[in-house]
Amino acid sequence: MKYLLVAGARPNFMKIAPLMDAFALHKTAGTDFSVRLVHTGQHYDRKMSDDFFADLAIPEPDINLAVGSGTHAEQTGRVMIAFEQVCQAECPDWVIVVGDVNSTLACSITAKKLGIRVAHVEAGLRSRDMSMPEEINRLCTDAISDALFTTDELASDNLRREGVPESRVHFVGNTMIDTLLRCLDRACARPLPSGLEAKRYAVLTLHRPQNVDDPRVLAGILGAVDVVADRMPVVFPVHPRTAKSLDSLPLHPNLRIAEPLGYLSFLGLVAHSRMVLTDSGGIQEETTVLGVPCLTMRPNTERPITCEIGTNRLVGTDPRRIRETALDVLNNGSRPHRVPQKWDGHAAERIVEVLLDGHPVSC
Ligand code: UD1
Repeated sequence: MKYLLVAGARPNFMKIAPLMDAFALHKTAGTDFSVRLVHTGQHYDRKMSDDFFADLAIPEPDINLAVGSGTHAEQTGRVMIAFEQVCQAECPDWVIVVGDVNSTLACSITAKKLGIRVAHVEAGLRSRDMSMPEEINRLCTDAISDALFTTDELASDNLRREGVPESRVHFVGNTMIDTLLRCLDRACARPLPSGLEAKRYAVLTLHRPQNVDDPRVLAGILGAVDVVADRMPVVFPVHPRTAKSLDSLPLHPNLRIAEPLGYLSFLGLVAHSRMVLTDSGGIQEETTVLGVPCLTMRPNTERPITCEIGTNRLVGTDPRRIRETALDVLNNGSRPHRVPQKWDGHAAERIVEVLLDGHPVSC
């Protein structure tokens, strides 16, 4: 068996790291297979890519497509053209894609059209919001995948409702949480940036096009976050996309602008924080496991389990609602919460066992 494992953008790297480790364990045990790592180059800055490979000890990619940035069509098309050549040269039995970025979609379509089986890790998440490029990527990838690995039962139910045969759906847990649990001690041992004290600061991240591309929308959100900055420092590691809109805006003196952080620094920062305000997908899951209150500044979430049993609260982008909920968290702390089933550090092992078993997939 030959596998190509694909990663393209920052949120992919923590999902592939434990898969590489799980494959390596089977290799050491003498199982006969090969796995090659393909980086599409969707993210390419040191702080968006290389630093994650270093923090997570992911081996150097075997192949880098170096596609870079562009419009959705340009980026997706460039990945498809380059990845088709890789598939033709490598002839894998399986292509494994993770998450919901443009590289996920591009590589799954390319592989499927060449008759190669596709495995999707983090399948079945649905925001029901077709204005999100990620939702389109998720729907299309799941529709053509042969093995669909889900992080929770709500995601498995979504797939069943869409008619995916039961034999293709595998509820395995969350590979991003595998990485978090593996790295947490090291991350927490890192010193906090100067002037910050544990549980006496908040963390802010924003990168969704709907929130950051229009400086007026961004100004409204930042104005609401002032209610937190009035009480404590708010650390804001800025995504390159957000940096473009931020220049022209007046900022609260307690808002501490930072460059994008590496995996361990960011995990330590979040773990010690009082609360997180974000529009990220993955951070909703990480804060749930860490027990840190999270305000998600989006109208919907593809990860409802983090609201149902975790620490996540969906607040949209209405400044009044953000302020009210932030004040509630500051005054009353977090609500009771639980960690979802199988977010136990062993998801990648379950996935690799299914793939190596040649588990029956009806193609
Ligand atoms: C992408 C994903 C999104 C994910 C996010 C995490 C899609 C559709 N979107 O969004 O789901 O949550 O990554 O970060 O795949 N840029 C750099 N350096 C880089 C990468 C990007 O400066 O290494 C800048 C470029 O100006 C680029 C812009 O950021 O045009 C956006 O990058 P892109 O990969 O298109 O989308 P993200 O907003 O990062």
